Amino acid sequence: NHPFTVNKQGHLEIGGIDSVSLAKKYGTPLYVYDVQMIRNNCRAFVNTFKKMDIPAKVAYASKAFSSIAMLQVMKQEGMYLDVVSEGELYTALQAGFPTEKIHLHGNNKSIAEIRMAIENNIGCIVVDNFQEIQHIRSLLKDYNKQMDVLMRVTPGVESKTHQYIMTGHEDSKFGFNLQNGQAEDALLKMIDDPYICFQGLHCHIGSQIFETDRFILATNMLFQALKMWKQQYNYVPNVLNLGGGYGIRYTKEDAPISYAPFIEELVYEVQKQAESLAISMPEIWIEPGRAIAGNAGITLYTIGSMKEIPGIRNYIAVDGGMTDNLRPSLYQAKYEAVLANKADWLVEKNVSIAGKCCESGDMLIWDLPLPAVSQNDILAVFSTGAYGYSMANHYNRFAKPAVVFVENGKDKLVVRRETYKDVTRHDLSFE
Ligand code: LLP
Repeated sequence: NHPFTVNKQGHLEIGGIDSVSLAKKYGTPLYVYDVQMIRNNCRAFVNTFKKMDIPAKVAYASKAFSSIAMLQVMKQEGMYLDVVSEGELYTALQAGFPTEKIHLHGNNKSIAEIRMAIENNIGCIVVDNFQEIQHIRSLLKDYNKQMDVLMRVTPGVESKTHQYIMTGHEDSKFGFNLQNGQAEDALLKMIDDPYICFQGLHCHIGSQIFETDRFILATNMLFQALKMWKQQYNYVPNVLNLGGGYGIRYTKEDAPISYAPFIEELVYEVQKQAESLAISMPEIWIEPGRAIAGNAGITLYTIGSMKEIPGIRNYIAVDGGMTDNLRPSLYQAKYEAVLANKADWLVEKNVSIAGKCCESGDMLIWDLPLPAVSQNDILAVFSTGAYGYSMANHYNRFAKPAVVFVENGKDKLVVRRETYKDVTRHDLSFE
């Protein structure tokens, strides 16, 4: 069910390369990306808008996976880029990403972040709160520059996803509230500003979403406000940014999704609403992260110790865990996996994959059907390309794994494995 093949030796292949040989060459845990798949994911979004002949911008939400190589691929694909921090912006600059195609997000942007955005002439800041309007305006004035700005609003829509990755509901830390007049106040503060070029609204309702109806509902909420604002202030937006959040397939429980009809439905809705307001169609921006990087990445681990509790469970431990994939312990996220060196073997029984952190919650997969497992087998976990490396951490002083890109039958190390020297780099002696 996953888009990878098995070679003659019965090994899992990614991008035409034997994953078992990659594990040998680079060690494990190892993140491996199929670059062609990343490119195809970008093109699916961009081409859908192109086919519909709709002015649109597709920005990659770099929080899903940010590294210089990844952002270079995004640059090659002509994508726009969403960054949420100085670190993500810094990475984009290091990757030589065109700054006018970068959009800055964040619910608590520092002065330094805003300065960095202005100094580098990035394309747009998505303003999140009243303090920020003040900061952006006064900094722009100091620099005597103008900048495009969108206003992030919370439309009051609950998305059907894990509570931790919902963002559009009323009680959210993000954005201006659309229902209680906050967004309107913000509009009035920005609409005629000489430095802030106010371009329109942004909303992101959450992540790993499969139902179009939530996006449609959010769009309707935006248009309810726009209708009022048109009547009262003759305000018409140039841009509507509908965020990211497109779900991907992690396990067979996830509905397979084709983004083209999803986007089409959304565009038709915006068209319909714009027509009913008698305004011209705003440019549509979207910000997929997971849908670009998620299914293109796998993680390879080496199987270590095994513990059988007869009649209860088989624990199989791997050489990584919540340090390289926090999602199962943080969101109870589910994954599928195979033994990369026995990809053509028949499944024997259900086992549970344990991480090696000192934490009972460090379980990567519960009840995974696998063939007979031996020590040193290589486990390949699918769809770890988004929010895997980007949420990796040093718990138990683990070093972060390496990242390898594979394309056209060639593999290339794009993030080197950390050493323990890296891990202790900032420690200072107290003796
Ligand atoms: N735009 C905005 C404003 C966002 O806040 C996000 C995600 C995205 C775009 C991209 O969403 P995506 O297309 O990747 O779903 N760590 C969590 C996901 C947190 C997402 C936060 N914001 C996870 O691993 O599921």
